[in-house]
Parts: sequence; C-alpha cells; structure tokens
Amino acid sequence: MNATADVAVIGGTGFYSFLDDPEQVSVETPYGLPSATISVGTVAGRRVAFLPRHGDHHDYPPHAIPYRANLWALRSLGVRQVLAPCAVGGLREEVAPGDIVVPDQLVDRTYRRIPSYVESGAVHLPYADPYCERLGAAVAGADPEIKAGGAMVVIEGPRFSTRAESQHYAAQGWSLINMTGHPEAPLAREMQQCYTAIALVTDMDAGVEAGQGVGQEEVFALFKANLERLKGVLTRTIESLPDPDGCTCSTWAEGMELSYGIPTPD
Ligand code: ADE
Repeated sequence: MNATADVAVIGGTGFYSFLDDPEQVSVETPYGLPSATISVGTVAGRRVAFLPRHGDHHDYPPHAIPYRANLWALRSLGVRQVLAPCAVGGLREEVAPGDIVVPDQLVDRTYRRIPSYVESGAVHLPYADPYCERLGAAVAGADPEIKAGGAMVVIEGPRFSTRAESQHYAAQGWSLINMTGHPEAPLAREMQQCYTAIALVTDMDAGVEAGQGVGQEEVFALFKANLERLKGVLTRTIESLPDPDGCTCSTWAEGMELSYGIPTPD
C-alpha cells in the first residue's frame, strides 16, 4: 500500500520542499502525471503530503501545470485538506510586499485550462465562496500579522499584466493577482477537499508600481526571503487544523450523482 496523508501543502514559486525525511510517492492518474513525485511525511503528528505545483525545478509554467492530476493524486493518498501557498502581486495599497494574505474570493480570468473533472451529466459545483472558511481561519490564527479577506484575480499568464489591465483589476476592488489559483480551487472542491490559498505578496502589480512594472526576479527574491516564515505559518496551521468531517467542502455532493470518480487510498 502507498503512503497515505490527511493534509497537503502545494508549494508555489520557489517552494520546492517542506518535509523532513519524507517518503517519495509516484502516483499515476487518469489525467496524467502530477507536477512531481509527492513527498509524504509527518508534521505536528499529522500525515502531510507535499507537492511542488511547478515541478521540482519549476518545469511547468502556470498555464501548463497538470492541475487535474495534482488534485486527483493528492486525493488518492487520502488528502482532505489542502493548504495552497502562492506568490501574488498586490493590486491596491491595502497590501504590501511581504504580506501574507488569506483571500476569501477568487476571480477567474484564465482562458485555456480545464477547470473541472465533470465531463458529462449535471454536476454544478456550489462555489459562491471558493475557499474553505474554516481552513482559512486556521491559517489566519497561525500568525497575528496575516491579513484575512480580499479577492484574488487569476490571470492566464505566463506574462505579467499591462498597466491598464492591472488598473482595471484594481478598480474592481480586487486586491491580489496571481496565475495559479484557478483551477486549483474548484478542482479541490470537486474532489471534496477543503482548500485555502495562502498568498504571499511578492510585488506590487504594474498599475501600482512605478518604472518598468513587475519582473520575475523580484517575485522569486521576495518569495525566497519569506519562505521560512511561510513554512512556520504552515506548520502552526497544521497543528491547529479543524476536523474536515461535516464541512460543506465535502458534503456539497450529497444526493448528487457524480459523473467522475473520487479516488481512495489503495
Ligand atoms: N505572481 C506574483 N506576482 C504576480 C503578479 N504581479 N501578477 C501575476 N502573478 C503574480
């Protein structure tokens, strides 16, 4: 039997390892291979799976990440709670580089990704609140400096936004911008997993920033400078995770006939 895990951390840009002395698990899925071999280990007495979203060496750009394989693979190990750190740009002055934010809304501006496991039948995901509120509260409780709330717009990438695009997003009242938050969030819910983004602000986006706008060096450098703090937040969150049983993230499909399978550990 493969290793099993209850909780997953999906590492973002610059975040390629998390666990001490992990077991490496290769998983094949009906949607192809996940971004990397999954590491499984123990944190605060919980079985935790770690998967670097972009691959071990940043092989997958945001639009080419195998999102469906990733969430399916984690669920097949037993994962029911997903913590999803990601690098984001700030769109408005209420956030600043170095902030960790738990957003409560998501806007999808991607256009060439497969955002669902549903390929037939009537299965319409309840999605008014895209993140698990209870999981988000556990993250926010892990550090008093974490900011809670705000909408994250997810763009297709891999290019950054123009100044006009960025100003348009900010004018909608959205505070964060990123390239990977969708379709991870709806796929996790289709897999009946609790999921929350944990956004590390690495830059101010083009509409706010003077000069040349955003460059990838500043994104990577700021993420690297804050990685240990982020890992501390994740560890303290894992220590105080709520019980996933009974959460609407897993009960929404009761009484529905799902046209796709939810895998269970071997
Ligand atoms: N990820 C980090 N910074 C970003 C930005 N400014 N726009 C889109 N994705 C990002």
